[in-house]
Amino acid sequence: MTTVADLLADPYFPRLKALVIDVTGMAFYADKDADLALIVADRMDHCVIDNCATYLERLQGDGEEMDSLVAELTIGETYFFRHKEQFDALREIILPDILARNASSRRLRIWSAGCATGPEPYTLAILLKREFGAQMLGWHVSILGTDINQKFLARARDGRYDQWAFRATPENIRQECFVAVGKQWQIKPEYKAMVSFQYHNLTRNRFPSITDNIAAFDIIICRNVVIYFSRETVEALVPCFRESLTNGGWLVMGHAEPNMELFRSFRTVNCPGAVLYQRVDGEAPETPPPALRPPPPLRPPGPAARPPKPSKPVLRPPAAAAKATPAATTSQPLSEVRALADQGKWDDALRACDTALTGDALNWRPHYLRALILDQMGDKEACETALRRAIYLDRRAVLPHYHLGLFLQRAEEIEAARRSFRNVLTLLEHQADETLVDEGEDLNAGQLRETVGMHMKLIGM
Ligand SMILES: C[S@@+](CC[C@H](N)C(=O)[O-])C[C@H]1O[C@@H](n2cnc3c(N)ncnc32)[C@H](O)[C@@H]1O
Repeated sequence: MTTVADLLADPYFPRLKALVIDVTGMAFYADKDADLALIVADRMDHCVIDNCATYLERLQGDGEEMDSLVAELTIGETYFFRHKEQFDALREIILPDILARNASSRRLRIWSAGCATGPEPYTLAILLKREFGAQMLGWHVSILGTDINQKFLARARDGRYDQWAFRATPENIRQECFVAVGKQWQIKPEYKAMVSFQYHNLTRNRFPSITDNIAAFDIIICRNVVIYFSRETVEALVPCFRESLTNGGWLVMGHAEPNMELFRSFRTVNCPGAVLYQRVDGEAPETPPPALRPPPPLRPPGPAARPPKPSKPVLRPPAAAAKATPAATTSQPLSEVRALADQGKWDDALRACDTALTGDALNWRPHYLRALILDQMGDKEACETALRRAIYLDRRAVLPHYHLGLFLQRAEEIEAARRSFRNVLTLLEHQADETLVDEGEDLNAGQLRETVGMHMKLIGM
């Protein structure tokens, strides 16, 4: 059995710690060696490994072990209606603003980043349905919860909670929105259906990204997550959040982290017990963009430690160039289409994509991008047609199969979804983990395999 003392004396422990901080962004562990060692020792015992060098090797070669370690390292403290003042601000200020702003498109996209086991996005679903349901009849509402911890995500999808998760919830809401199952409470299907969950690492998966469905939100809520990150990491994340909002969209951070200086590129709205940040293009004071760089190099010198998921950082420069993008030209590069889509300018993106297609109709890529855009615009039929066309043009193109799988999964065509996911796995069969997936931006074969595996588990292999 490995003890904390063994680990603290192990010459490779600093390297292991640096890898953990690098992968998760959790600089919180920089001065918590004993806490970290306790968690790592437990995982090492589980893997029957008694030294850091061997465990490091395991982490670098095995995404599943990294996920298991991350599951133990992350702190998932959360509950329904946490910090009520922020939900009051959503009700009184943010939602009425968006209801008016999106009255013609009748769409609402919300992202709960670092959602843990799900109470935050489900609270939003409850608030929306109960208090805005009548006004929002016929609206297309999507609430996306993301997290780095796969175990939390599985529990979020399950939607069952202990009494303790309701410590700030009015009794009538618990009674009306949940069903008792033994000693637990299960969220009712009408609220569950409004929320979807997916893996996303804020510090390693770049965003905005239409490929990951992380773009063009009206509201981003990211509370009690970046408190564990270094200031440099947060500085680099802020512009990514900003670019993932539509113009006029709102960012809600935790009440304990309103370092307004970091959010100076937003319009700040102070309300009782909450500070809100709104993206307002053209009106916010011009400030130089914060440093856009990966988190600081935390790895100690010595043999390079390859991160287990060679995702790139990370925090890429926001798609600022696209702001100046003119309407479609005849030789519309797909990067411009993508940049417009990342900003949620769906009509412009679709026009640009159609222009790209006129010169390149036999290329699967514009058809695939077109499908992603149409999906966001709510045109399901055209989305499916575009995905199938992309596949027809090149059966080896992996991402159209993957997105068709997701599409069919949502449509509850489970057998067909399984076939699409199997196609993805077959196409990836001989690809090394670190091979980048065509049109996947920073997505690699290993990550896609893992994600598809997760979806297949969800729908039953
Ligand atoms: C304390 S919980 C906050 C939950 C919820 N937002 C709330 O305030 O009730 C922090 C969450 O951030 C997640 N997290 C930590 N690092 C992350 C990263 N790099 N990317 C995405 N999520 C991360 C953790 O897994 C955990 O679920």
